[in-house]
Amino acid sequence: MSTVGSIQGRPHGGGDIPANWTVAELVIKYPVLRETLERLGIDYCCGGKKPLAAAVADAGRDWTAVRAELQAALAAAADGAPPADWNAAALGALVDHILQKHHVFTRTQLLRLDGLLDKVQNAHGAHHGSVLADLRRVFDGLRAELDAHLMKEEQILFPAIMGIDAFMSGRGERPAIHCGSVGHPIRQMEHEHDGAGQALVAMRRITADYRLPADACQTYCALYDGLQALEADLHEHIHLENNILFPRSVALEEDMVRGQG
Ligand SMILES: [Fe+2]
Ligand SMILES: [Fe+2]
Repeated sequence: MSTVGSIQGRPHGGGDIPANWTVAELVIKYPVLRETLERLGIDYCCGGKKPLAAAVADAGRDWTAVRAELQAALAAAADGAPPADWNAAALGALVDHILQKHHVFTRTQLLRLDGLLDKVQNAHGAHHGSVLADLRRVFDGLRAELDAHLMKEEQILFPAIMGIDAFMSGRGERPAIHCGSVGHPIRQMEHEHDGAGQALVAMRRITADYRLPADACQTYCALYDGLQALEADLHEHIHLENNILFPRSVALEEDMVRGQG
């Protein structure tokens, strides 16, 4: 699978956010602010032509407070640490990062998207029932597959990897790998990653690259935007596992076996 990594529109210096910009102008310049706008209930999609001050007022919020939140989000994106070198980082730090960033996000986002898809199916079933039913079928399959997948990584594979890492760094006993070698569960996880990737491709095809219908409401926008956020996060998540965590774990296990003669 390809990766979708960088934060688009990362600001280089912060700066003020004029109240007379439209919401769309803001999001085009700073795509990183979409999550903040969505959380604040400010329509950046179908209502993107409105000036910011008016859109904020429509959401029942105070412009000064919202502007402060948006500037804080921009500052956080601009001041973020440079991307970590996960090839050089401790294996435990990489596993923690995958768990805390990607597993938490995936579970939260799947639950949220399930609710959004329900609402959109109820509101738009009459005109877009076929697309939404296809989307529901693929989404449900992906969700079930990912729920089981995350649990297998958390309960079987990652503890096995951490056991090898602890032993090799002198912090624990030589682990007994119940499945013989971490290579076995890793191959299974890679196979499941391929399945998730195919589901993401299928959802793009079904939605014509997430092109919104003319009568899309804000919830419809949030659903399509959220599915794309899930896709981007899964790309990064799977890249970290397939291309970094898994090869490093296999190599470490080989060192352990070699060292034991
Ligand atoms: Fe994972
Ligand atoms: Fe995975």
